[in-house]
Amino acid sequence: MTEKDFIPKKINTSNLKKGSFSWRSPSNIALIKYWGKSEPQIPKNSSISFTLNNCHTTTILEFSKKENPSKEFSIKVVFEGETKDSFKPKIVKFFERIEKYVPFITKYDFVIKTKNSFPHSSGIASSASGMSALALCLMSIQKELNPEISDEYFNQKASFLARLGSGSAARSVEGDLVVWGQHDDIKASSDLYGIKFPFKVHKKFKNYQDTILLVDKGEKQVSSTIGHNLMIDHPFAKKRFKQADKNISKLSEILQNGNLTAFVNLIESEALTLHAMMMTSNPYYILMKPNTLKIIEKIWKYRRDNKSDICFTLDAGANVHVLFPEREKEKINTFITSELILFCQNNHYICDYVGFGARQL
Ligand code: PMV
Repeated sequence: MTEKDFIPKKINTSNLKKGSFSWRSPSNIALIKYWGKSEPQIPKNSSISFTLNNCHTTTILEFSKKENPSKEFSIKVVFEGETKDSFKPKIVKFFERIEKYVPFITKYDFVIKTKNSFPHSSGIASSASGMSALALCLMSIQKELNPEISDEYFNQKASFLARLGSGSAARSVEGDLVVWGQHDDIKASSDLYGIKFPFKVHKKFKNYQDTILLVDKGEKQVSSTIGHNLMIDHPFAKKRFKQADKNISKLSEILQNGNLTAFVNLIESEALTLHAMMMTSNPYYILMKPNTLKIIEKIWKYRRDNKSDICFTLDAGANVHVLFPEREKEKINTFITSELILFCQNNHYICDYVGFGARQL
């Protein structure tokens, strides 16, 4: 598929006056990180993520034909029951980027009603789940207008559109494990959209657990957009992109052979490398907090003392994702509640596990 395949030939909206669609779309946590991009949201390296089950955005998109046709977008955003004009600029920018692919969006007045399953200021980015939920709602409109489009095309294009809203959102449409970014070992992979990890995954990864420790619930001090841009002249960029490519090959093997020792090593190394890129950019910055490091040390000690397969990963923030196999769930939950949540802001944490992608409501 190329970018051109997502430009519709002719869409006739005369028979669709109004309606509404609703999708629930998950957040995801990258195992091999995407950090660095070129225009338009093309990743410098491929990434793989676990789809989360409990952290998601639900969006209802209501649309009705404009009474007075205009080229302007007509959008109202309602977030958790309240009108949010502050969310509009981001959505207008998103609509500008995707208009070429969904030209019908200038024809309707839209009301976007959206809510997250996780607290708003939790430090959990809602852009992946939010943008993918909206992209899926728009695809439902396109399907109404062009009923002949296949499910495969529907999902690919939803991911393609979501990507233009937020890169990592491309990985929030389909599948428990999602690959985004062209990689030689993964034939169908693409820079334009995410695909389901195409190989059989070892049973040890079934229901893999992710407990998110909310160390810092504030807004990020440095946005991902700035962070990605700092990779442009980064002294280690080339090496990093090569390393990520190799790590995709390694992880692909591990996911198939179930070698958890290798998994732990690779996942933690990826998390620390992401933060190392931030610390070695110019301007440099640190998103980890003292409690992030305290948690990491505790996890390492627990792993040594208990011969456990517990490990951590990090997003672009201070929160820690604690990853572990389902069979260790009981013991590790006890460890988390007795030894780790004291490092979380207001003792807040979210128990999650790998889920299966977005669904229409
Ligand atoms: O989707 P963005 O532009 O917010 O970038 C997200 C980047 C990381 O979350 C740090 C890594 C990833 O692959 O999700």
